[in-house]
Amino acid sequence: MDIDQLKQHNGRHLWHPMAHPQAIRDTPPDIIARGEGSWVWDIDGHKMLDGVGGLWSANLGHSNRAVRDAIVAQMDTLPFYNAFRGTTHVKAIELSTRLVEMMQPEGVQAVVFSNGGSDAVEGALKIARQFHKLRGQKDRSKFISLRQGYHGVHFGGMSVNGNSNFRRAYEPLLPGCFHVDTPWLYRNPFTDDPERLSEICAELLEREIVFQGPDTVAAFIAEPVQGAGGVIVPPASYWPRVREICDRHGVLLIADEVVTGFGRTGELFGTRLWGVNADIWCLAKGISSGYVPLGATAIGAKVADAFLSDTSGLGAVSHGYTYSAHPVAAAAALATFDELVRLDVVGNAARVGARLQERLRRLPQRCAFVGDVRGIGLMIGIEMVTDQASRAPMPRTSDIPARVARAAYRRGLMVRISGPNLILSPPLTISAEEIDFLCEVLEASFDEVGASL
Ligand SMILES: Cc1ncc(COP(=O)(O)O)c(C=O)c1O
Repeated sequence: MDIDQLKQHNGRHLWHPMAHPQAIRDTPPDIIARGEGSWVWDIDGHKMLDGVGGLWSANLGHSNRAVRDAIVAQMDTLPFYNAFRGTTHVKAIELSTRLVEMMQPEGVQAVVFSNGGSDAVEGALKIARQFHKLRGQKDRSKFISLRQGYHGVHFGGMSVNGNSNFRRAYEPLLPGCFHVDTPWLYRNPFTDDPERLSEICAELLEREIVFQGPDTVAAFIAEPVQGAGGVIVPPASYWPRVREICDRHGVLLIADEVVTGFGRTGELFGTRLWGVNADIWCLAKGISSGYVPLGATAIGAKVADAFLSDTSGLGAVSHGYTYSAHPVAAAAALATFDELVRLDVVGNAARVGARLQERLRRLPQRCAFVGDVRGIGLMIGIEMVTDQASRAPMPRTSDIPARVARAAYRRGLMVRISGPNLILSPPLTISAEEIDFLCEVLEASFDEVGASL
């Protein structure tokens, strides 16, 4: 197809995730044609810094040569074989070994592979229920999660999601899923004090567990830093408190690290930010730098031991996909892990992330419709409001966020809008100069829209 044909067909036949098919016809999406390092080009050759990082995923930037070479070499050797009972392949063995080594500080003992984040969550929820059955606590089937949380789109993940936008059209969902308040400093009915908020939200979790009956609750699932919900960073004491509460009531703690895993926050894993270990981790996106779909559910010692000591047969992993541990994805992940070390990707994310956070946090002084700028490392959320003083939320119907995004696009920066939030998650290999460019463009874009109001 030539460029004109591509533009004509754009939005006609493809129903895009999280979009109304008619809205896509009315406002066709941008067509991205090429990527190199931190940059992407659209079909007209317009060059932009990729502030979205693919979708929190192109952690090594685009077109990393080492990952590409590993993928090609694997295609030449063994493009596919399954890892169901009875067979395996070299890359599956190497990747599981590497991942377990990498997660030694987490006490991870085993990993179940899948095709992406939603799969990783589904695996985690199922394994949590199975764990309790193996230990004779078959009533522990419920899940508790946080409002504003995002855990993908399968029925399990959707049921623990904390945003009704992703739920309404598909209800009724999985029974036995309950939500408690997120420790969200900017918007909560309780307090402006982070420590007090941490206490209150932890107590709300405990009260919910007690109310449900602890012996009916399988797991609490949360993101170490909420991503899609608007980049909400909890107070430092929240996760340690959650860990204590889960332990007190025999509830498993599942860390959904689909976004935070592999360096996004400036730590290799988000739970390291809080000095806490989960029992199960959900991983995807950055695991393969997003080049090939891959998900993983990493299993800590307590859960692994229950499976390994099972003699009833119930401990079989009756879960998995044709493409679990796909050799090409595994090769991409192994090369990604090498590059994480070679390029000091996590250190870079911490360093340039601090630069990004420091500069963009000044935006509310510059722009009257920016209410809050929050984040950590290379994930940042800019929440737009109609009034800074009262924090009045920007209505979903407002076109202001989209106008800021268009102004940035024109100036050479790709950003993502989610409701009233502008979300940034650039490649973790982004340089300090590129961060400065990103900030300049964003400031100019907010200035431009601000001047037009
Ligand atoms: C925290 C979290 N969990 C799960 C998912 C679902 O991942 P996927 O879109 O790969 O299915 C996402 C996707 O953004 C996510 O942010």
